[in-house]
Amino acid sequence: MLLKTFFFPCYLNILLDQSPFFFYLKRTARTLGICLALIIMSNSAGDSRVKEIRISEQKDFDDLVFPLVLSPNPEAGDKIKTAEDACKWLKSQSGSIQEKLLKHGAVFFRGFPLNDAQDFDKFVTSYGINPLPYVGGAAVRNQITSKVFTANEAPPDKPIPFHHEMAQVPTYPSILFFFCDVAPPSGGQTPIVLSNLVYKAMLEKYPQFIADLEQKKIQYTRILPEADDPSSAIGRGWKSTFLTNDKAEAEKKCLEQGTSFEWLPNGCLKTVTAVLPAIKEDIRTGKKVWFNSIIAAYLGWRDSRNPPGKAVTFSDGTPMPDAIMEDLEKILDQLAVDVTWEKGDVMLVDNNQALHARRTFTLPRRILASLGK
Ligand SMILES: [Fe+2]
Repeated sequence: MLLKTFFFPCYLNILLDQSPFFFYLKRTARTLGICLALIIMSNSAGDSRVKEIRISEQKDFDDLVFPLVLSPNPEAGDKIKTAEDACKWLKSQSGSIQEKLLKHGAVFFRGFPLNDAQDFDKFVTSYGINPLPYVGGAAVRNQITSKVFTANEAPPDKPIPFHHEMAQVPTYPSILFFFCDVAPPSGGQTPIVLSNLVYKAMLEKYPQFIADLEQKKIQYTRILPEADDPSSAIGRGWKSTFLTNDKAEAEKKCLEQGTSFEWLPNGCLKTVTAVLPAIKEDIRTGKKVWFNSIIAAYLGWRDSRNPPGKAVTFSDGTPMPDAIMEDLEKILDQLAVDVTWEKGDVMLVDNNQALHARRTFTLPRRILASLGK
């Protein structure tokens, strides 16, 4: 009896296997199971609606492509056809994009159906950006929506040298979004460079200079006009820099940033920042980064109010060495990636990992930006 009970299930199984009906039932169930597993895998791996593409301007550093370029997949069943589709996709994938940003330093979105500032605003909102007001920055910008403004109103023939956004103030954005609303006929790229590569190159060539930077640190000096002066790349007036018309309020905001100030007889405001580090360690990656705006201040912070050679110094007042600055400019250009803007492009930059700049261009050009944490 016991023997019969034990063998009965095996016997039944053999019978079922030999039955054509149960054979097809089992095979169908197995196929459905495989399909289900593939659907789950594709969802967890990101999604099939967007794919990585290669563009000619990209570079490879340490086996990592820079920047990573993503584009809607034309072969996807559920294609991204509208700005709303793009925003929904970004919202569902923001965690995955953050991981990619940390790994690559910058992510470029090409071919997404984004047409204007409103689409761009919705796109950055979908990412979950926590917008940061542009307090303390030097560029003249025009606010377009609550989160979006023009990248820099400086004249087309004036290049903007490499910098980390707002590295000269204690509260700076961790992420930057740029959007191409109007692509220029020529030039006007927003080149990007990985800062840890700049640090490595400078350390190898100028170890004493790096040691001095780490020990003494730096200070930035800038003379701000009262009202915005769009003829200068650093022409932002003190009123719009500190978002007030009240001198006492501007002084309070200077002090909050550790910046010392002096009112000049012509109504301008001279500011000297706190002593700031020029090199940082990115605790997320353990990499040392060239986190400063030295070359931007050295080359670009000069206009009718700001004489050359004074904008950035060591904390003891020593100027930056001219020969090293000249070479630094070359190193930055060698490592730079210059992507030619196309209408609708979006570039997401990790401001702790990458510097950016602006090339000269011919009009028209309209690049919008959004800064955040
Ligand atoms: Fe910038």
